[in-house]
Amino acid sequence: MRSREIRRGFLEFFESAGHRPVASAPLVPGDDPTLLFTNAGMNQFKDVFLGKEKRDYARATTAQKCMRVSGKHNDLDNVGPSPRHHTFFEMLGNFSFGDYFKAEAIPYAWRLLTDVWQLPKDRLYATIFMGEPGVPRDDQAYELWRKFLPADRIGELGAEDNFWQMGDTGPCGRCSEIYFVKDDGSMMEIWNNVFMEFDRQPGGVLVPLPAPSIDTGMGLERVTAVLQGVESNYDTDLFQPLVQDVAAMCGQPYVGTDAASTSMRVIADHMRACTFLIADGVIPSNEWRGYVLRKIMRRAMRHGKKLGITQPFMHELADRVVTEMGDAYPELKANRDSVVSVIRSEEERFDAVLTTGLGRLEQVLERAAASQRKVVPGDEMFRLYDSLGLPLDFIEDLASERQLAVDRAGYEAAMEAQRERARAGSHFEMARTQGFTVSVAGTQAALDALGDRFEGYDITELTEARIVALFDDTRSEVSALDAGSTGFVVLDRTPFYVESGGQVSDTGTLTADGGRADVQAMSRLAAGGPRVHQVTVSQGTLRTGGLVTARVDLPRRAAIRRNHTATHLLHAALRQTLGTHVKQAGSLVAPDRLRFDFVHTGTIAASDLEAIERIVNAQIMRNTKVQTTLRRTDEAMALGAMALFGEKYGDTVRVVDIPGFSLELCGGTHCRATGDIGVFTIVSEGGVAAGVRRVEAVTGEGAVALLQDERRQLQAVSSELHVTPTEAAETAGKLQAEIKRLTRALHEARVKAALGAGGDAASGQQTHDVSGVKVVTRRVDGVDRTALRELADQIKAGLGSGIVVLAADAEGKVSFVVSVSADLTSRVKAGDLVKRLGPIVGGGGGGRPDFAEAGGKKPEQIDALLGATPGAVQDALASSVA
Ligand code: ALA
Repeated sequence: MRSREIRRGFLEFFESAGHRPVASAPLVPGDDPTLLFTNAGMNQFKDVFLGKEKRDYARATTAQKCMRVSGKHNDLDNVGPSPRHHTFFEMLGNFSFGDYFKAEAIPYAWRLLTDVWQLPKDRLYATIFMGEPGVPRDDQAYELWRKFLPADRIGELGAEDNFWQMGDTGPCGRCSEIYFVKDDGSMMEIWNNVFMEFDRQPGGVLVPLPAPSIDTGMGLERVTAVLQGVESNYDTDLFQPLVQDVAAMCGQPYVGTDAASTSMRVIADHMRACTFLIADGVIPSNEWRGYVLRKIMRRAMRHGKKLGITQPFMHELADRVVTEMGDAYPELKANRDSVVSVIRSEEERFDAVLTTGLGRLEQVLERAAASQRKVVPGDEMFRLYDSLGLPLDFIEDLASERQLAVDRAGYEAAMEAQRERARAGSHFEMARTQGFTVSVAGTQAALDALGDRFEGYDITELTEARIVALFDDTRSEVSALDAGSTGFVVLDRTPFYVESGGQVSDTGTLTADGGRADVQAMSRLAAGGPRVHQVTVSQGTLRTGGLVTARVDLPRRAAIRRNHTATHLLHAALRQTLGTHVKQAGSLVAPDRLRFDFVHTGTIAASDLEAIERIVNAQIMRNTKVQTTLRRTDEAMALGAMALFGEKYGDTVRVVDIPGFSLELCGGTHCRATGDIGVFTIVSEGGVAAGVRRVEAVTGEGAVALLQDERRQLQAVSSELHVTPTEAAETAGKLQAEIKRLTRALHEARVKAALGAGGDAASGQQTHDVSGVKVVTRRVDGVDRTALRELADQIKAGLGSGIVVLAADAEGKVSFVVSVSADLTSRVKAGDLVKRLGPIVGGGGGGRPDFAEAGGKKPEQIDALLGATPGAVQDALASSVA
């Protein structure tokens, strides 16, 4: 049975049992800042289990993309050596939201495995929760299993294995695992059935869920290995095409047991991970999710090097992942070009890193080898990583080749310290939403019941919004906020947008009878929870239970809308002009500007930028109506809607359609029609990271202001030049040429003047006789070194035999030259004189025996330098005799 039949078979089995097939959520969890990557099928249903979110179905089934690379569920270090651990994997699951429970879940599982898939019954085992303080043994699960399995094939384990929770808090419950006995007698877990009953609170307390629920997870890779009768997941059709590609690239066979095979497994695993991550919008970087992606990619590249692959190779393997998985996950096909482009530039970057970093690493290793302890210090390893990008495992490999230990703890500590700094900077938002303390009885229930009621898509003003809760500026609940105070307000519904998808929060006012508060910022009580208005009360008092009129600052919102709709137009225009590899990597939609980061390698020609600007403005002139609809996620994806990074997609999504031009999933606020944007103009374009470029642009009034400002500046320039604006550039060019010519002429005139005064005592030229050697010194201000050189040559020629020392004050700096005639160089070397005299003017230099020059910082010492010259020559002559 092929893996795609297994995936489909699972979903169809549960669909025929009344489950709604739901599309996989993205790997980047939407609203959940506590979660690095989606790590279980139930993530997208977390709020449904908690009763905070309602769906129009009570049973669902999914094949969910998952990553387990950090935190509670982390398999990273096992990948490669282990035949069945992965960073990226697919979890097949069936879910009941307060509908059926254990009595149906266990028979479903049994029927699928033994009836549909025909697994031999005598090779299946199950485990149940044995009971621990606080949560009793799962008697019911035991009894249910007894219908299918003899007692000696039902194991009982503790919380470690048979109590499942997503993280430190959230939905959790006892669970039952199903194991398959392999040919060698070992047992492999294939399916986990979780009986969700509790919501774990911060601090650990278990609160019952609104209704008992079911969450199951079966690793597609493992069950495929079982059904295909192979020992290792890497021998299934999910991995073999990739593994064989790698084997062909390095010219070694995949035998499964040697070090080369381990490297091939790492590459196959990491290829899937990075292809899926990039398709879901993650870009390699040094922070947070991007950092994990970079780490995974560099690990794969390192294993490629171990296999002797010297060229960038990963971007070629990406196509294999797309071909194999693109039918089940259409986002891979849609983003194929950007995935290849991002991988390629990361590979090139890594090569550059190795080229520059290896020398430094070599020094660090040599120092460590010479040290007593033979340990590579952690902070040095971190510096190599942080400033040069050399990954830890790379350093570790080289260190172990030389029998050096590494201070991993020190490295981690330095890394953590840096992450903290980054987090403190960039995750301000997260901290802001935390720490509200509810104290009044009933408030928590009211807030829980509330959910998120945003009514600001169509309107920006709402009368009779009710104040559900108030918090003072320490975030403690209060019953009233008086004039002059600052605090936070939760309303039963609101037209205020809260920052999301790059669009900034609204500002505005809350007014009541005689009361007024300015809304300065927005946040949320919890992910997906009610919105919080951060206010300053300017008049009267706000009271819990009171009614207010909530009014968004409309001109500001209108400007935001223009920039948001323009961002969609820009995105589509970039793809049209530069290619479909262009993909959003980040965006900011503010009232005064928009900023759009996207995947693209190489520079963008000015003519392309102009074309992009024209395309966007043409769309504005078409004045197309912007249509927003709610659709089923899978439907929207099938239509080719561009899914964006960092958005939460439930099973219905908001689709923003500019017919015939752009289709994106987006939760933001938009213009009614493209014509509302008025005008769009690009302010700047440039690179921000490897393979990522940024366009900044303005629209509407901002664009008009920019154009006017530029015109004003051009007018100022042309009026200075006394020409019309169209002649300004040409005139400025001519002026530049003229300045160049005049500067040259001035220089020549100065040299001429200096030369013309030659020999004249008034020019300051002095000729000394030092033990029969003629020494000429002279100060020539305002000329450069070239002129000094010319002058020295001329004077020397006039002398026949002698030494010339010239010094100049050129714009506050000293230049001086020493020229010695050929007959004297055996006795006095020009270079030696410069070394001796240089310090007097605070500088130094050097040169040949017949000519040397130097600079200095103390022009006030020039006369002293010239005065000291005869003495210096005298000393040189004396020592040459001796
Ligand atoms: N959520 C459960 C797991 O991940 C099924 O194992």
